[in-house]
Parts: sequence; C-alpha cells; structure tokens
Amino acid sequence: METIPKNSAAGSGEAEVMSVRPFKVMSTIKETEDTFSMELASDDGAREFDFEPGQFNMLYMLGVGEVPISISGDPTKPKTLVHTTRAVGMVTGGMKTLKTGDIIGVRGPYGKPWPVKEAEGRDVLLATGGIGLAPLRPVIYHILAHREKYGKVVLLYGARSPEEILYRKDLEKWRARFDFETFLTVDRATGSWRGNVGVVTTLIGRAPFDHTHCTAMICGPEIMMRFTVLELQKRGVPDIDIFVSMERNMKCGVGLCGHCQMGASFVCKDGPVYRYDRIQGIFTKREL
Ligand SMILES: Cc1cc2nc3c(=O)[nH]c(=O)nc-3n(C[C@H](O)[C@H](O)[C@H](O)COP(=O)(O)OP(=O)(O)OC[C@H]3O[C@@H](n4cnc5c(N)ncnc54)[C@H](O)[C@@H]3O)c2cc1C
Ligand code: FES
Repeated sequence: METIPKNSAAGSGEAEVMSVRPFKVMSTIKETEDTFSMELASDDGAREFDFEPGQFNMLYMLGVGEVPISISGDPTKPKTLVHTTRAVGMVTGGMKTLKTGDIIGVRGPYGKPWPVKEAEGRDVLLATGGIGLAPLRPVIYHILAHREKYGKVVLLYGARSPEEILYRKDLEKWRARFDFETFLTVDRATGSWRGNVGVVTTLIGRAPFDHTHCTAMICGPEIMMRFTVLELQKRGVPDIDIFVSMERNMKCGVGLCGHCQMGASFVCKDGPVYRYDRIQGIFTKREL
C-alpha cells in the first residue's frame, strides 16, 4: 500500500513537497449553514493519506485558487481524508459547490502537529471556539483510540449559537463516554437551547483537570485563544504546557514565499501549532 509521506520542506525535494495530487469528493456533510465537511479519496483509489493531528493541506480548486485547510478526519482511518471548511470567499465558496465525484487538488500534509505524543501520561485540556474544533478533532480521535495513555481528557467547545455547533453526532458520542468530559457553551442561546451561555473561558473553572500536570491545546479566534491562555495562566498552568494554533495567509505552505511570516517564524512550517512560550511576544500584540 503506497502512503503519501508527511511532508516538510526540509529533507524532501521541493518538487515532491509542492506536488498537487487529484482527489475525488466521496461525500459532503452540511455541518452548519456555511460550513461543510468533505470526505476525499485519492483518485487512484489505492493510496492512504498519512497525517498527524493538527496538520493542514493546501486544497486547490481548479481554475480558482488554493487555500490552507486543516485535516479534520480520523488519523486512524488513513484511507479517507476529511476537511471541514467555512465558505468565506472565492475558493472556499467554490469548494462548497463541489459534488460527489468532482476532483480537487491536494498537496500536503504540512505544518507542525499538536503534541499528542508529549501529552501521554498527562491530563489533556482541549479548548476550542467555532471552526477551531476542526483542527482539534483528529486529536480527539487519536486520544480515544489510545485512551489508556492519557489522564483526564476535557473538551471545552464554544459556538456563537446552537445552530453553529459542528460535529453533532461526534459530540453526542463523546458526551456519552465516561472517560471524556465535554462542556459546550454558546454566545447566544436560541431555540430550545438549555445549556451553558457565555464564552469558553467561563467553562474553565468547572473543568476537572490537574492544572500542574496537563497539556492544553487551544484553537479558535485569536481573541478567544488570548483569553483562554490568560485564564489558564491564572490557574497556574505553565506556559510550556499550553499550545495554540495560528492562522495566517499562505501561498506556498512550505516555508518558501514568506506570506505567512510572523516575527521570525513561518506559520506554515514552524506552526500552525506553537508552544505558547515560543510565540508569546507576538501573540499578545493586538495587531499582527
Ligand atoms: C493553517 C490554516 C488552517 C486553516 N484551516 C481551516 C479549516 O480547517 N477550515 C476553514 O474553513 N478554514 C481554515 N483556514 C482558513 C482558510 O484558509 C481561509 O478561510 C481561506 O483561505 C479563505 O479563502 P477564500 O478564497 O475562500 O476567501 P478570500 O476570498 O481569501 O476571503 C474572502 C473574505 O473572507 C475573509 N476571510 C478569509 N479567511 C477568513 C476566515 N478564516 N474567517 C473569516 N473570514 C475570513 C477575508 O478577509 C475576505 O474578506 C485555515 C487557515 C490556515 C492558515
Ligand atoms: S506560506 Fe509561503 S512561507 Fe509560509
């Protein structure tokens, strides 16, 4: 079985790292009004797609353009490749119109993953807002497939409204487990919502995890990540145990063009996942 390698610019030929492979749309799930998950399979049907939780692909809409999108599927099921995308513009809007059987270009996987290996033996806190749950979903799949290797695992997830909650079926399954704590909140309650209302940080005080022996992985809008980091710091979580995922405009995705530069770092190559103490100076600035 041929496996597409986990790419990195270092140590691989540039041509191979940059090569676009055709993938076929196998199915599409409407997650919310503007967000959808697309399941892809290599067009030759035989390849597996090996990736690590937190990595992203550059997805190429033929004749429209290319965008970075995190891989949101299950790393233990490498035959299918899943991305969850919010349609916000030209390329992502075009992707939303793709039908089963259509072709999309894929190159990747790129970027530094979440520290799932380093988190073994520790409690894990996953704090996420909006579409930030997409890059963290592979972490959840990974942890649940190796549940005995981790301490307490807690997911805090905030959405703007109940209608914007992603992955409802997964959330139901995760909430039913005795070894996985899930807390949901919405900014604005609508319809029959009887759950928590408020920002994600309001859930941290209720989350049962060891503040001195946990790995926190945070993904969402930068303002949400900033306040979550502050709240964790107040509770004594060391900066070296906090990880955040950054988004920047990208072109090459492999550290060649400079589009994603953040200080001395290239988000596509050195990120998108960063240990907090390593980007603290940049992260705390409002304008980047
Ligand atoms: C490492 C990485 C991983 C990413 N993972 C995902 C993912 O899993 N799912 C996903 O949906 N997106 C993800 N993104 C964001 C995604 O790449 C952008 O939304 C996309 O590039 C927009 O391209 P476009 O051509 O559709 O929109 P454009 O035509 O470039 O933009 C149209 C309008 O939308 C605004 N816009 C652009 N990006 C966003 C955004 N993220 N949110 C709100 N408004 C925006 C622009 O400012 C502009 O006004 C990721 C980005 C990075 C860097
Ligand atoms: S996108 Fe080109 S250097 Fe990061």
